[in-house]
Amino acid sequence: MPVILPNLNRMLVIYKGAWGWIALSQLFVILGATFMLLIPVQISALIDKGVLAGDIGVVVDKALLMLLFAILAGAFSMANLYIAARVGEGTAHYLRKEVYKKIQTFSFGNLDRNPVGVLLVRLTSDIYQINVAASFSIRFALYAPFMILVALVFVYISSPDLVWIFIVVILITAVMFGVISWLLQGQYIVRQQNLDRVNNVLQEDFSGVRVIKAFVRKDYENSRFKGVNEKFRAASLSPLGTSAFILPAIFLILGLSNALVIWFGGLQVIAGTMGVGEIIAFTQYFFFILAQLWILSFVMPQIISAEASAGRIAGIIDSKPNVVDSPQVAMPGTTGTQGRVVFENVSFSYEGAGGKEVIKNISFTAEPGQTIAFLGPTGSGKSTLVNLIPRFYDVTSGRITIDGTDIRAIPQDEVRGKVYIALQESVLFSGTIKENIGFGGTDMPFDQLVAASKAAEADGFISVIPSGYDSHVARRGANFSGGQKQRLSIARAIAPEPGILILDDSTSAVDVATESRIQAALATMIPRTTRLIVAQRISTVLMADKIILLDKGEIVEMGNHQDLIARSPLYMEIFESQLGGITREDIA
Ligand SMILES: Nc1ncnc2c1ncn2[C@@H]1O[C@H](COP(=O)(O)OP(=O)(O)O)[C@@H](O)[C@H]1O
Ligand SMILES: [Mg+2]
Repeated sequence: MPVILPNLNRMLVIYKGAWGWIALSQLFVILGATFMLLIPVQISALIDKGVLAGDIGVVVDKALLMLLFAILAGAFSMANLYIAARVGEGTAHYLRKEVYKKIQTFSFGNLDRNPVGVLLVRLTSDIYQINVAASFSIRFALYAPFMILVALVFVYISSPDLVWIFIVVILITAVMFGVISWLLQGQYIVRQQNLDRVNNVLQEDFSGVRVIKAFVRKDYENSRFKGVNEKFRAASLSPLGTSAFILPAIFLILGLSNALVIWFGGLQVIAGTMGVGEIIAFTQYFFFILAQLWILSFVMPQIISAEASAGRIAGIIDSKPNVVDSPQVAMPGTTGTQGRVVFENVSFSYEGAGGKEVIKNISFTAEPGQTIAFLGPTGSGKSTLVNLIPRFYDVTSGRITIDGTDIRAIPQDEVRGKVYIALQESVLFSGTIKENIGFGGTDMPFDQLVAASKAAEADGFISVIPSGYDSHVARRGANFSGGQKQRLSIARAIAPEPGILILDDSTSAVDVATESRIQAALATMIPRTTRLIVAQRISTVLMADKIILLDKGEIVEMGNHQDLIARSPLYMEIFESQLGGITREDIA
């Protein structure tokens, strides 16, 4: 038998701690339903043996029993509601934890494919949907079928001739539910995809709201949002339209079947083979079935929608990080702390970019303590190249070694313990300045943080803020200027005194004089550190031991300033365009 709702089942089973509670609740379900089903039996006896026989004692007895059964059924249903809510919340809590943990293992490649908007929906609305489905399943998945089945048995015992009416009703309803579920499943998947789109646009617009204002793109963004919002509305309406058929159809079927029961039952009463009380009990059972089907008509769409959500959560939980630690880990100690970085015929293409190589056949060596500068137009692959060193992405071909060991053989955490980077986009966290600069290590002495800040030319502006290193950093560093944020990011990268330091265009918002002070300070503070510096400005690279000129992912020139100025027309051209007024002698 094919597994029904495979993803949802998987998500519910994942939460193992729930099984004890689920078992208890299902016992309550059976008990509650049984007491409920015993009530019509009492009604039947009360009418036929009490009212119609004129026996007041039987009437009182049966009425009291009915009351007792109703109270018991209610109590079990309340206990069940509580357990269902508990398990639903527990499942949601567990899934949030698992999905969050999984996202933390994502490499840059996985993050490229799962934008923040999508991840937020997984962690909120998708998990909420599963929470609802979990609690509904616990309350009704067994209750409704059990109720229907036992009602059938009771009917069969009292009058086997009328059982066919029930069976026909149940079969018609089952076919109807099957078709509707099938339709709904597809519609919910489309709805969720549209919800993702809405969230992605929102996410992008809100994080870029200042740019949108600055570029007077409000109208364009409004219409873009209107588009996805409209599609989401339409996609949300279609499952609602389908579900809307369920309730009227149930009423229609049940109205007809009630008529059938009274018609055929009535004939039997007239013939004297059936009591009036039995017919009333009969219609009572129909009422129960009506109620159960009615409840299912609410529950079923929720559960099917949760299956779509579960499929999407499974997509996150099952995705493999693009960068993984190899089982053949390099011997400890062989990876040293020298900081010699070698690229050997390295090529790289982003997944999903159609195999287009962004980095082509790159080879160079960076010796410990050297400064290597990367220069090239935007899009030439500078950021991509340096992101390969801390294993944010793994190379597509060729290899990168640190002190002779292929970095793919070194666990990611260990590589990142040697290589510290100030990313092109400086992101700070809410907290204090001290916490932000000390982010790269635990319990770094305060002196070390101050030394790093001094070298990064950040100490100057930090000390003039009243609370100094304890002052507050707003979310994403919003209360600092671009240049200040860059200097704080540099301080954060150099504070752990790394073996290898990468600065990806980290001084683009800092003036030239400050930038050269930072470079001089780095040379004295961390002289043995291999420094890889991505730059736009030629002034940044003048003192580098090696300048690598990149274009379209390839090395077009490599050498120091003197070499390049002597032999590379392209370098000369960049040099003249940027430092037109300065002669070669001025720099020397
Ligand atoms: N995450 C990514 N996914 C796909 N393509 C990317 C990604 N990041 C950069 N690229 C592409 O790779 C090329 C090099 O980009 P990048 O390394 O950022 O250049 P640079 O830092 O020199 O400006 C560009 O064509 C860019 O579009
Ligand atoms: Mg870049």
